[in-house]
Amino acid sequence: MKITVVGAGAVGATCADNIARKELAEEVVLVDIKEGLAEGKALDMFQTASMLEFDTRIVGSTNDYSKTANSDVVVITSGVPRKPGMTREELIGINAGIVKTVTENILKHSPNAIIIIISNPMDTMTYLALKNSGVAKNRIIGMGGILDSARFKAYLSAELQCSPNDLHAVVIGGHGDTTMIPLIRHATLNGKPVSSILSPEKQKQVVADTMVGGATLTKLIGTSAWYAPGAAGAMLVESIIRDQKKVFPCCVYLDGEYGEKDICIGVPVVIGRNGWEKILDYDLNEEEKALFAKSAEAVRNMNGVLSTLDVSA
Ligand code: APR
Repeated sequence: MKITVVGAGAVGATCADNIARKELAEEVVLVDIKEGLAEGKALDMFQTASMLEFDTRIVGSTNDYSKTANSDVVVITSGVPRKPGMTREELIGINAGIVKTVTENILKHSPNAIIIIISNPMDTMTYLALKNSGVAKNRIIGMGGILDSARFKAYLSAELQCSPNDLHAVVIGGHGDTTMIPLIRHATLNGKPVSSILSPEKQKQVVADTMVGGATLTKLIGTSAWYAPGAAGAMLVESIIRDQKKVFPCCVYLDGEYGEKDICIGVPVVIGRNGWEKILDYDLNEEEKALFAKSAEAVRNMNGVLSTLDVSA
């Protein structure tokens, strides 16, 4: 197996590091536009192999896509990150051009690759990659829901004083501060509804904290986060490579599911060797359905911005 990660910045390098440690492939290729960055990070990472006991080769490349040829999975993290006070949506002007070019370069050398989009605004970048490339919809997956759900679990576990691993908690909808929908009514701790353990006020607080989880980190660090986004990307790659058929909330193309069409947005899907293989139909109540429709409207408005840029979708 061969995996390429485009963007050797904070998120891309962390993702590649996680992939190597998990030995998900014989070779990981890291690509960046900045001269020497990918080569340097790949070399540094590979020098941990004898200490961390993994056998994955890690190779770096400055914009030479021939090195990525025949990749099974490609993770796209290239682009600019958020600065404090910025929304993910404000990155669209710069990142759309980058994601478009990178996707084209990747497909020239790996026409059968499954492509994971991490660059923000992630829902719109996923839509752009799908529409621009014309590849089968199951092969383009936006990573946002896994990260948001992991943050949801982290906030819940702090409140409940429990292990995040004993929680089942999912965030669907868009990957934006105002568009994501942490499904608190569906969240459980060892099968017990969280709503029966936490007060309504605490539930509200956890949902609110989750929604601004990324912005909170950006304010603290001065740029957007990388440990959790990188780990989330690797988790998605793992379910594909090992054909685990895990269910994750991911940004995928909807064609009538959840009442929406011609949009990429977060819903629970089965992830396996063919990319996203099936959309699961969660039993949403009227309030949750209304939130999903509102979220889809916001994502669709953002997709509309693409037509004003020099990219086609
Ligand atoms: N091709 C390849 N790499 C590129 C290109 C390009 N056309 N344009 C930019 N890059 C590289 C940059 O050189 C940089 O090394 O993408 C990398 C981005 O890394 P960081 O600036 O560290 O940003 P990071 O925190 O990793 O975030 C990347 O993921 O979570 C999202 O919002 C975040 O969109 C952002 C992306």
